Amino acid sequence: MSLIKKYVWLFLVALLFACNKHKTYNIGVSQCSSGAWRDKMNMELLAAHRLYDSEADISIANCHEDPSLQVKQIDSLIDANVDLLIVAPYEYTQLASSLEKAQKKGIPVVLFDRKTQSDNYTAFIGGDNEDAGSKLASYAVHMIENNIVNPVGRKPIAWEMTGQLSMSPAQDRHKGFSKIIKQHDIDYFYTETNWTPEDCYRQMKKYLQEGKQVDIVFCHSDICAVGAYNAAKELGQEKHIKFLGVDGIPGPDGGLQQVKDGVLAGTYIYPTHGEEIIQLALGILDKKPFKKNSFIKSFVVTPQNVDDIIMSSDQLLKQNDYLVTIQKKLDNYLGLYHLQRNILYIAVVAIFFLLIALIIIWKAVKAIKRSNRKYREMSEKMKQLNDEQTKFYTNVSHQLKTPLTLITGPLKVLAEKKSMTGDEHELFDILTRNVENLDVLVSDVINFRKQVDDAIADDTVSSAIEQPEVLRDDVKEGHTGLLLRADSDELATLLVVDDNADMRKYLKALLSNNYYIIEASDGESGLRLARESVPDLIISDVMMPVMDGLQFCKRIKEDSITSHIPVILLTARSDEQQQIEGFEHGADAYLTKPFNAQYLLARIVNLLQGREKLRKAFSEKAEKAPLLTDTPAEQLSTPASRFLDSLKEVVDKHISDTHLKMDDLGEELGMSRVQLYRKVKALTGLSPVELLRKIRLQKAYSLLLNSDMTISEIAYEVGFGTPSYFSSCFKKQYDKYPTDVRK
Ligand code: FRU
Repeated sequence: MSLIKKYVWLFLVALLFACNKHKTYNIGVSQCSSGAWRDKMNMELLAAHRLYDSEADISIANCHEDPSLQVKQIDSLIDANVDLLIVAPYEYTQLASSLEKAQKKGIPVVLFDRKTQSDNYTAFIGGDNEDAGSKLASYAVHMIENNIVNPVGRKPIAWEMTGQLSMSPAQDRHKGFSKIIKQHDIDYFYTETNWTPEDCYRQMKKYLQEGKQVDIVFCHSDICAVGAYNAAKELGQEKHIKFLGVDGIPGPDGGLQQVKDGVLAGTYIYPTHGEEIIQLALGILDKKPFKKNSFIKSFVVTPQNVDDIIMSSDQLLKQNDYLVTIQKKLDNYLGLYHLQRNILYIAVVAIFFLLIALIIIWKAVKAIKRSNRKYREMSEKMKQLNDEQTKFYTNVSHQLKTPLTLITGPLKVLAEKKSMTGDEHELFDILTRNVENLDVLVSDVINFRKQVDDAIADDTVSSAIEQPEVLRDDVKEGHTGLLLRADSDELATLLVVDDNADMRKYLKALLSNNYYIIEASDGESGLRLARESVPDLIISDVMMPVMDGLQFCKRIKEDSITSHIPVILLTARSDEQQQIEGFEHGADAYLTKPFNAQYLLARIVNLLQGREKLRKAFSEKAEKAPLLTDTPAEQLSTPASRFLDSLKEVVDKHISDTHLKMDDLGEELGMSRVQLYRKVKALTGLSPVELLRKIRLQKAYSLLLNSDMTISEIAYEVGFGTPSYFSSCFKKQYDKYPTDVRK
């Protein structure tokens, strides 16, 4: 079960408990007759419905002394599924079938006031009628013994007018009364009435009219006793007879008032106790322990105690009125409370389901976010995979360019050989064509990547890549000649850096006729070799182990010893971004594989000639201008000019030192003698000694023009051993003697 389902169940169960805290039972009441006593009882039953833990909805059916109607009424209450029946049976024998029906249906039955023949009832509660009869009999005896009743010349006569003896109260009252009264010297007789005042009136009148005498008349209810009294009164005999009744209910026409008014000599308070009946019923429904039969004993009301009893029963009546008022108000409040409670329940349920809905939405949002993240991660992985694949294919393609160069280059050399037969030429053509096709295919793969990169490439790229076009013009002009080291008959030294041994071999074969070739297989060893031998030009591959060509080129250009050396980057990477990167790292030219051998040769010549031009410019200026700093250095590239500036600074410091050595200069500039020699020679075309002499003479020239120093003083000042050697050197350099300058 999901967590949410669990919460919903818990909530519903809790709600059920909350709703059922106070149970309300449906209780059906079957009343057998009407009258003041029954009205009082009905009122008490209704007033008690909210007095206890559980509540009762009470519906009362009255059969008005019709036994068959009572059966019908009880049956319909059973059919209506009341929780419990409270029954005052009309007759002792009549309800057996109804009680059985209730029992079968599991409906408890509480009998009150009157008993039945059948034992199919749950509990009985009511007044003790035998006690009523015997106490009233004792009171009659008491009146005789105390001469309240005092017949002259005869035994006292007592007449009991019973209710129907088919009814249990009448039976029990009769039993109790006759038993006591018979124990005394009293003329006693009884007649059965239909328990109405009219019947008692009629019997009484008839009896008296027959001239018969009676001292005590006991009727089974107060109103019956009043009926008999009225008959006696009509015949003017009421003063000699004591009338006794049962019920003792309060109120203006009740038995208590009749006693107070002297109509009745006494009555027995026959308890109604409606609230106790409801308490018993609810106890049974709530499964509390209870007594099967409860007979409530009571007492006799006489003229002696009637005032006190009326007072307290008035009080009770008043309190009962208050209770009824409170009950009514309570009912109103309860109605309001139930309405508010129901609204609260609905609100709580709504809030609960709203919360559930929020939790569900929150979970759904989380799930969506999670799947989005997964999707993003997946697509990133896919992209990575794609990139790696493309990179792989591009790299493989780049790698293929080197063998392609190594095939096309030698093929071209072979093609120039005249000794091939016709067939060999054809085979050779097939070979050349397919190598070209293969080259196109490899380029296509590289271009695929390039197209993707082009989409984001900077516009400025176009200007940076124009240079190769200019170079192509040079190729057309055919500057492929041999180049010597400046002002010497030494071959220029070329450093080839490539991890592919075949490529190195091929380049060596291509270049060794014209240049002195030194080789290195990676950037790091290339760097070492370049510092040691300061070559005139470097050709380097880009993709190499240990240190790649770009890094190597950058380091060459940063090092003061090698910074002047032109670098050609030779690589399969043909895309423009790569070329820009190459130039950014200081490359002087960028050639892509498979390269044209003639084009490479032309590019080498072109770069070496460029250096030569700078050297020439330097020496020409140096010849004409007396001051080294004036112009030539400006025309050199920046690292070169920086080098020459620092060289001049060192020389200036030691210019008076006749024995100044190359080793000293090199040491101060952080170079070996060889490095200094090659660097100075490469930049100026002069050896360091020649350059030193030139600087001394330039300084002397300046002093001749701008100072009062003698020629000898100037000669020593600029580091010449003797003035005569100074004069001859000066003449050689400027074609005039120092004295000519002074004039
Ligand atoms: C009313 C009544 C009462 C009496 C009781 C006995 O029907 O006659 O006056 O006390 O019933 O059940």
